[in-house]
Amino acid sequence: MISVADILNKGTLDKQDLITLLKAKGKDQELLFQRAREIADENIGRKVFLRGLIEYSNVCNKDCYYCGIRKSNKNQKRYILTDQDVIDCAKFAYEQNYGSVVIQSGERCDGIFTSKITALLKEIKKISNGKLGITLSLGEQSLETYQQWFEAGAHRYLLRIESSNRELYYKIHPENAEHDYETRLLALENLKKAGFQVGTGVMIGLPGQTIEDLANDLLLIKKMDIDMVGMGPYIEHEDTPMYITKDFLLPKSERLELSLRMIAVLRIFMKDINMAATTALQAIDPKGREKALQIGANIIMPNITPNQLRKNYKLYEDKPC
Ligand code: 5AD
Repeated sequence: MISVADILNKGTLDKQDLITLLKAKGKDQELLFQRAREIADENIGRKVFLRGLIEYSNVCNKDCYYCGIRKSNKNQKRYILTDQDVIDCAKFAYEQNYGSVVIQSGERCDGIFTSKITALLKEIKKISNGKLGITLSLGEQSLETYQQWFEAGAHRYLLRIESSNRELYYKIHPENAEHDYETRLLALENLKKAGFQVGTGVMIGLPGQTIEDLANDLLLIKKMDIDMVGMGPYIEHEDTPMYITKDFLLPKSERLELSLRMIAVLRIFMKDINMAATTALQAIDPKGREKALQIGANIIMPNITPNQLRKNYKLYEDKPC
């Protein structure tokens, strides 16, 4: 088998190369991380972009088996930020010289929600003289909604595929019309059609997930010519159905290392992609996000949601607030 050192000197990586790199341990892992840093330096430099994260609402119509804000979690208190809260957050970001904000929320497709977002987008553009960039992370919506939001001033959109393996997708989501794998892929296509720079990503260390699955995730991200990626470890949440798998998961430290290898490999595989150092990394290791930045991530999304509400946007255990 070809060595990690030799793979790191190759021009293009095939699936087997990705698998070998994702399995790298010890000295090989160090080589991988070093190479990822070099590639980042050569292609994107050491600049880190800050995007202020506004967690707009934890009201969600989806029932994803892994997520703490899933619709059926009756233990979760629900909230929606007021318009003033959102505008205050955006003002704060603008005044602190953030390049952009990310508005994230539990998923809703009703007209009240979609028009509220449109109005907020217009207002944020107004108060920042059109200067503050706006990224949305509001789930699957119709092409018309995506178009409406794009026209109102949003220009990036994050929608994770969660896993490119269709079978695994249905192990972590209910198999029904609201959680349809093909609809997720179509939504990603529609986002491009509407004009968005599209971001996606996956969870790492899911029960039953293989290294080959993760290599396929990276191949799909490349095939779709994605602009931005957010990937992080899966972390159990006790009020979710997937909690029963907690004793069959990789230890958290290994999930973290595997996530870091995914980030390093993707930096090598797609040299100039934008990659977030995600909060889930920090939930496992207080230095998790910094570690990701060292090996090729180039975006940090500091949480700028009003303090008293942050505890309610609990996607997983130990989520830093
Ligand atoms: N562990 C890690 N990440 C999670 N997310 C949701 N629940 C969890 C969890 N238990 C991630 C999903 C989603 C993003 C907003 O948060 O990938 O797309």
